[in-house]
Amino acid sequence: MIKTKIRYGKEILIRDAEKYDASELLRHIQKLADERIYLLMEPEEIPKTIEEEERFIEIYRKKNRRLLVALLDGKIVGSADCRIGGFRKNRHTASFGVAVRKEYRGAGIGTALMKELMKWAENKGAKKLWLSVFSTNGRAIALYEKLGFQVECVRKGQFNVNVKYVDEIIMVKWVISL
Ligand SMILES: CC(C)(COP(=O)(O)OP(=O)(O)OC[C@H]1O[C@@H](n2cnc3c(N)ncnc32)[C@H](O)[C@@H]1OP(=O)(O)O)[C@@H](O)C(=O)NCCC(=O)NCCS
Repeated sequence: MIKTKIRYGKEILIRDAEKYDASELLRHIQKLADERIYLLMEPEEIPKTIEEEERFIEIYRKKNRRLLVALLDGKIVGSADCRIGGFRKNRHTASFGVAVRKEYRGAGIGTALMKELMKWAENKGAKKLWLSVFSTNGRAIALYEKLGFQVECVRKGQFNVNVKYVDEIIMVKWVISL
């Protein structure tokens, strides 16, 4: 559990998600999905029951995964997850996802969540950090570039967002020199 200063003189608490966070996390993800332009899942594709979300949280308690929540005044305002490759052949890779509630963006919460997970992945031995982002998501791309990620490749028209084909950008950060 860590406390981190963010902008506007505020402090957030970052910790691992617990089973009891299930209903609040579900609402958090639902709100993000309602925006329809950032997440792969549409609102109706989000796990509906608290039990399903609890199972999801449990899965992320495994040693090669981590799910973090960021709390401001005791309320979940952001979340981020990391998965380290589950096989010997991809154990050196770690993928990331991050989401901050609309009202709290631009305050440094996404940066704080990502830095914590990146540190954890590196400590676990990950060498290639990677993520997938819609080419239309300028704010997220700016965040990842700031953290040292670079574009590895682009998959043209990989997503259909509101009846428009959008490219997928794969960004990577190697923590060793190749
Ligand atoms: C992407 C996201 C996680 C960033 O979180 P955040 O808390 O807003 O990010 P931060 O405040 O830490 O800002 C990180 C960087 O993004 C960039 N940024 C912030 N606001 C921006 C804006 N309005 N336009 C462009 N870039 C912006 C800046 O480079 C900023 O770093 P700086 O403030 O040190 O210059 C957040 O916007 C979000 O949840 N978006 C919706 C979900 C999503 O897109 N998830 C990622 C899917 S791949």
